Parts: sequence; C-alpha cells; structure tokens
Amino acid sequence: MAKSIGVFDSGIGGLTVARELLRTLPEERVIYFGDTARVPYGGKSTSTIKDFSDQIVKFLLKKDVKLIVVACNTVSSTSLEWLKNKYSLPIVGVIEPGVREAIRTTRNNIIGVIGTRATIESSAYRFAIHRINRDIKVYSKSCPLLVPIIEEERGNYEVTRLVLEGYLLGLKKKNVDTLILGCTHYPIIKDKIQEVMGKGVKIIDSASSVALEVKDILGSMEIPPPRTRTTNPNHAFYFSDIPRGFSQLSKRFLGHQISYTRTTL
Ligand code: DGL
Repeated sequence: MAKSIGVFDSGIGGLTVARELLRTLPEERVIYFGDTARVPYGGKSTSTIKDFSDQIVKFLLKKDVKLIVVACNTVSSTSLEWLKNKYSLPIVGVIEPGVREAIRTTRNNIIGVIGTRATIESSAYRFAIHRINRDIKVYSKSCPLLVPIIEEERGNYEVTRLVLEGYLLGLKKKNVDTLILGCTHYPIIKDKIQEVMGKGVKIIDSASSVALEVKDILGSMEIPPPRTRTTNPNHAFYFSDIPRGFSQLSKRFLGHQISYTRTTL
C-alpha cells in the first residue's frame, strides 16, 4: 500500500488543514492524530510541547507515513525546527506557507497575527516574516479565549463578537491590511473575524497554502503517488480522547462526518 500523509494537531483544529489536504490531494491517504486528551497546547511550556509532539511523530511513523504535516501553529512555532532536525522525513509546518501568502498579499506592509499564547510569545511569525522582508511591520495578539469559544459556539454567539472586538481593536488601530490566522481553530470563525476587521483587511488562513506546499514536496519525492487517481476514502483519524459532542464538533471542522479511533500514544 502506498505510504500515507501524517497530519497532527493538539486536538481537532488541524482538521481544517486536513480538509484542504483532502481537497487538494484526493488520491492521497491521510492519517490524522489529534491529542484531544491533552489539548490545549497553547498555554503549555515549549519543553512539554516538544515532548508531546515527539510522541505523536513516533506514533505516525509506526503507521508508515511518508511526510508529516504539523497542523498546529503552537507546535509549528515552538518545535518544528527541533522535529525537522530529529527526523529525516519531510515535516511541513503551517507558519511559513501562511507567511509567504501574507507577504504576497499585503499592500501597506503592515501585517497582523493572532494565535495562542505559545505561538505569539515564540515570535515565530515575526521572525519568519522578517527573514523574507525586514521592512514589514508585524503586530501580534494572543487570543487565548478563542479556542474554547470556537469549540463551544453553536450558531451566532454574541460573546464571540465581543471577545473578537476586544482582541482585534488594537490591530485595527495599527492599520493592518492583512491578518494571519495563526491558529488552526480560527478559520471556523473566519467570517466573524472578517466582519470585525472590516472588508478592507485580507484574512489569511494558511490551510490551502499548506496543502499546495505538500503537493509540491510530494511531486519532488521519489515515492510515487497512489496508482489509482480516484478519491481515496480510506483515511484514518485517531484521537487520544473522544470528548462529549465530538461527532458534531469534528464535522464542523472537517466538513463531513468521520469515523475515528481512540488511541493512546
Ligand atoms: N491547534 C492549536 C493551534 O493551532 C490551538 C489549540 C491549542 O491551544 O492547542 O495553535
């Protein structure tokens, strides 16, 4: 059997990235791991995040993956280089693809970034932007309330809007014309973020750029893609816990119902 693409996140947020991968590479098989028993990672120390992500990579390697997508900004910003140095297979994070898209998009060279505390405190986005263009001003804001709100939200919650206004007002005042969603949960409320930021601000959700990068890398690898060009429905979704309301929640993030397996690492 052709080798699969491993995708992992601290929980279900990475399903928004998996959704784009399935769209862009329908013939590939995806093996997803979400660490729902230990989510959120956003407030944890870097050494703990490295330790958890290392366990997950080992789990995915046992499933014979040819490439791993770190579909979590918190892990990408704190541990990606460390994982890349440790393992020989290609490991793709979510930061660089989003940064490149944001730099292509900005007109006034003022970019905003929102994410978890760990992501924002790592300054990974700022460093990645300045590696490409030092003249771009970068303003960031950690939004720790958004992940639990997004998971709880059913329909149009007024509280979401109020919290977003609280978090985003400062960035609006800085005149950002491009805002990077530096957390894989945030695309779920992209419309509300757009409303609060205003029509003139371009919102960057890196999932589609990540999928295109994976396509490029696979194209340059020696391992041939699966022979059949038809859709491969044989994906596998593993989670370290199945919390209440999980079916509906995962459906919101992936776009359709999935069957999943609970597993320990
Ligand atoms: N998926 C994580 C991210 O993209 C957010 C959830 C968490 O804090 O673990 O940063």
